[in-house]
Amino acid sequence: MSGAAAGCLGHSTATWNAEVGTRNIRANVRRQDLPLLFRVPRSNFRVRLRPMIALARKYRPKRFSDLIVQEHIAAALRGAVAGGRVAHGYLFAGPRGVGKTTAARILAMALNCERRGAAGGLAGEPCGECDSCTRVWTGAANLDVVELDAASNRGVDDARDLRERAMYAASAEGRHKVYIVDEAHMLTREAWNALLKILEEPPPRVVFVFATTEPQKIAQSAAPILSRLQRFDFRRIGPHAIADRLRHVVTAERLVADEPILASSWPEPGRCCAPYCWGISAGNRRGSRRRCWP
Ligand SMILES: Nc1ncnc2c1ncn2[C@@H]1O[C@H](COP(=O)(O)OP(=O)(O)O)[C@@H](O)[C@H]1O
Ligand SMILES: [Mg+2]
Ligand SMILES: [Zn+2]
Repeated sequence: MSGAAAGCLGHSTATWNAEVGTRNIRANVRRQDLPLLFRVPRSNFRVRLRPMIALARKYRPKRFSDLIVQEHIAAALRGAVAGGRVAHGYLFAGPRGVGKTTAARILAMALNCERRGAAGGLAGEPCGECDSCTRVWTGAANLDVVELDAASNRGVDDARDLRERAMYAASAEGRHKVYIVDEAHMLTREAWNALLKILEEPPPRVVFVFATTEPQKIAQSAAPILSRLQRFDFRRIGPHAIADRLRHVVTAERLVADEPILASSWPEPGRCCAPYCWGISAGNRRGSRRRCWP
């Protein structure tokens, strides 16, 4: 089937192609030459194709209550937001793929949400749908919520730059600036020293979240910084919790999956959906290692 034709005309083309063979319809078949059966009014061809969105993105938590396994952290952060007791600096420590960056984004959403706790939601939960929440969640350009990768911005100049930017007020009254620094253990000792002062006496409505898989490295290179941060240790997500989450995704997508593939222990929830994404993009509605996994 001609991919271009399918893209332009939508699903109906597939039927036509089945009838006329694999020729390129747009190039070789004029509409009036087709048998009457296929002369569908042009307006019917406007089939809206939904953009493909990776399952890992589609099911990325939007609220604290969506975070599995890390309920202790979700409850503490939600309570802090609801009670106006949010700290100026957090350290999120834990293995890869357990929700550190996600929790930091949800915190940023909750602090800046236009409808926080609305529609019967728990106090301190972001709505997940307002313009501000959507921008944070999708990682769109945002003046107030900035994500930095310390692996590539690890020097003292980067830290000074961050410090200066943090001195400016948020874009609007009542909003918070949130700096999410990933792989924080990569920051040099000098970079931490440059941040020490601002973490000690931060400007109002500025929150720093440092995420790391190796907190012991921060303890070695910048021990004083730890006393300025509120630390949360994220738990490893076990195979049962991952299987439950996968089952939820598979059901919500109305897919069929072999139980052994759900029960097999995937390394991380963020990556476990990949075989399903690949399977679906390859046209399968049934996820299985045999079919989807190369
Ligand atoms: N606790 C969790 N609950 C639900 N989904 C999670 C959780 N942790 C990770 N995920 C999924 O894995 C993806 C990657 O998580 P991420 O927050 O980037 O992990 P980390 O920053 O700890 O490496 C998220 O987008 C989300 O879909
Ligand atoms: Mg991360
Ligand atoms: Zn919102």
